[in-house]
Parts: sequence; structure tokens; C-alpha cells
Amino acid sequence: MNILLIGAGGREHAMAWKIARSPLCEKLYIAPGNPGTELCGENVPLDPLSFESIADFALENDIQMVVVGPEEPLVKGLGDHFKKDERLRDILFVGPASEGAKIEGSKSFAKEFMKRHGIPTAAYRSFTRETVNDGVDFINSLEPPYVLKADGLAAGKGVIICSSAGEAVGTLREMLCESKFGEASSKVVIEEFLKGVEISVFVITDGSSYTMLPSAKDYKRVGEKDTGANTGGMGAVSPVPFADQKIMEKIEHGIVKPTIEGLHRDGIPYCGFIFFGLMISGGEPYVIEYNVRLGDPEAEVILPRLESDLVELMQAACKGGLKGKTARVSPGSAVTVILASGGYPEAYGKGYQITGTDDLADAVLFYPGVKEKDGMLLTNGGRVMAVTALGSSHEEAMSRAYSNARKVDFRGMYYRRDIGRDLLKKPYNNNQD
Ligand code: AMP
Ligand code: GLY
Repeated sequence: MNILLIGAGGREHAMAWKIARSPLCEKLYIAPGNPGTELCGENVPLDPLSFESIADFALENDIQMVVVGPEEPLVKGLGDHFKKDERLRDILFVGPASEGAKIEGSKSFAKEFMKRHGIPTAAYRSFTRETVNDGVDFINSLEPPYVLKADGLAAGKGVIICSSAGEAVGTLREMLCESKFGEASSKVVIEEFLKGVEISVFVITDGSSYTMLPSAKDYKRVGEKDTGANTGGMGAVSPVPFADQKIMEKIEHGIVKPTIEGLHRDGIPYCGFIFFGLMISGGEPYVIEYNVRLGDPEAEVILPRLESDLVELMQAACKGGLKGKTARVSPGSAVTVILASGGYPEAYGKGYQITGTDDLADAVLFYPGVKEKDGMLLTNGGRVMAVTALGSSHEEAMSRAYSNARKVDFRGMYYRRDIGRDLLKKPYNNNQD
């Protein structure tokens, strides 16, 4: 089968790496891709938001499956574009149409969905410019800290946690009345702050059945011991040692199953991935957010553990055939360390030569922010490379990931030296709150 993968990040490199390993994949194209995806297939310079050019490319190149990495084309209706055109309708499309993508594209839609289907999440209310004063009263009725979320997509920056009521009121006014995040903050969800530990859980679904994929923990802060600014993710581990069987059962039965049943009951067709961003608080899981895609850097840590054929799972999802299908997953552990540009997530330099990548052993390298020039690899983003290593234990995966990270070098390279270290201590405390 000819497959077209949409996207350009480290997540898409990991997806391309996995798809290219499938005997079902004859030819893989990545639009627009990066120098890493070029090693797995052929990059094509298409804009993920230019639906017409993606459709034309699919028709001209006999594409039988389209897989969408990032959320934006899905929220903006790439799936609808394929479904409404009879020449494109039969192409297997991995990703929901815009209605299903609303579980990520609109926080208030997601909250109403969870409330309707009894799925545990933080208590909330949503406000618009017309009801801003009610929002101020609501803030004053809550205890700090305050969680404010722009309703729409805001490039991962739309969640603001304020420590005082004054700051929260100011932020609410900026979001609603001064369009801090443009149209995305014309509605704002204010919700209860949940204290606990976060975990990223992934499934692939055909809209009525689902297959659980490996879960992961992402390290979002730039500094060691979870300090400093929030980033797109500085590393990840899979599986998550504190997510024992009891917690995973609560997640599957209390959250995953009711979500898939809820979509089905609401008449929302859904073929693709769902990423459940969860908080374990007081031993109970709550949904912080839904995403309609895999995570980044979580994809880089979970896909190397997946032993099942991803293309076969995606094909089954598109054809309504996931019932009874479980994924084979390596029983070992994986650790991903992000090699970042010095200064990230603030300003950083680009175009520095990357060396040492040929010396890696027992590790896979993904390229979120790299470009190639005259046969050299150059830095081209904040998160430059992701080094993933597998091991029979969490300790072994950590030590392999770090011994490989140390071989790579570029000017200003920075990485956290403690990815996974917090999970070495036992026993894990699921009841922390
Ligand atoms: P999101 O963009 O929805 O992933 O939110 C960004 C981050 O904000 C999450 O990963 C959490 O760390 C934090 N967050 C979001 N909602 C809450 C909440 N209700 N309570 C505590 N932290 C939250
Ligand atoms: N790592 C979090 C995300 O992809 O949203």
C-alpha cells in the first residue's frame, strides 16, 4: 500500500520509522517531513493545511492510506475534505473528521462531552466576553491556583495556571477581551486545579472498539527536577512505573471505554488515535485533556516498544475491525532524551553542525529540529533530536539513552540529565496529592 503521512516533527519521524517497517507499506511519502523522515520514505513539499494539494497528490500517486500526525489539519477539516469527495472517499484516512477532532479543538466541547458521559475530569465552567463578570465571580469563589484554558487551539500555549485571584482575573480579561490567543480565547474554560502525577495514555480506535497502545510519561519543564519554563517536552519514558495494573484498569474502564462509547453514542465517527492526558490525583485518574494525535515526544518513546504492525492496526481502525485486537508491546522499557538548543524554550541559535550521530549503538535517533545541508546535519529548532533507547529494565533503558546522548554534540547542546530518574525510587506512590 502507498501511504502518505502528514507532518514534520519528531513524532512524524517516529511514525515514519515504524510505518516503513511494515510489510504492508510499499511506498511511504511524508508531507512535508524532515531529514529524518527522508531516511524512511520520500519527503514531498506539501503544506499540511493545503487540503487541495494533499488531495491532488493522493490521487496522482495512488495513495491508499493517509495518516495525519498533527492536530491542526484534523481540527480544520482535512478528514472532511477526504470524506466529501467521492474520488478520495475510499482512501483509508487515519484521523477523525472535524467533529471528532473537537475533543481536542474545543476545550468546552471536550468538557461537555466528559460531563455527559460521566468521565472524570476537573470541575469547570466556561465563559465568553459577554459573561466575563461571571467569570470573575467564579474565580473569586475558588481556591488558588486557578487554571484558565483558551477554548480553541493555541499552539500548546493556551493553558495558564495563576497562583493568585488577581492574576487570574487579569489573565481572564486579557484572554476574553483583548484576544490574547486570538479567536482561540473567545471562550475560556476555568477549571479546578488537580494535584498529582501526569500520565499520557494512547489508543487507536475505529469508533466502537479500541486497542490500547503503550503509555508514557512526558517531562515538560526545561530544568532538572521539573523546574523552569514549560516546553514541548524534554524527554519521556514508557511504560510508566507508577501506572500499575490497578491504575491502568481504572483508566481503561473509567476513562478509555466510556470515551469510545460516548463518541459512538453521540454519533461521532472516529478512526484514529486518541491521546488521553491524565492526572492521577488521590489514586484516581482524571482527564486533563484529549488529543486527536500521538504525543511528542511520547511517540518517540512508545512506537519503538510497539511490536505489532502499526499499518495493520491503522488499516483495521479504518475498516472497523479493531474488536478483539490487542497490540503486542515489548515488555522492556524505553527512555527518550531530547537534545535541545541552548536557550530553548526562549530564543536560541540555529544552523550549528551536529556531530556524533554515526556513533550511536542500541539507540534510535529522531529528528524534531534538524536540517540537512551539503551532507551535514544542522540544528534547525529548539528540540533538535530525540534519542530513544530500549532496555530490559527502566534503569538499563535510561543508561543506554544517556550513553548515546553523550556521543552527540552541537554548539550549545542542552539536555536534562534526570529523565526517568524520579521513577527509580520505589515503591511508587499513586496516592500522592
Ligand atoms: P494542556 O495544554 O491541556 O496539556 O495543559 C497543559 C498543562 O497544564 C498540563 O499538562 C498540566 O500539567 C496542566 N494542567 C492543565 N489542566 C490542569 C488542571 N485542571 N489541574 C492541574 N494542572 C493542569
Ligand atoms: N507531549 C505532549 C503533547 O504532545 O501534547
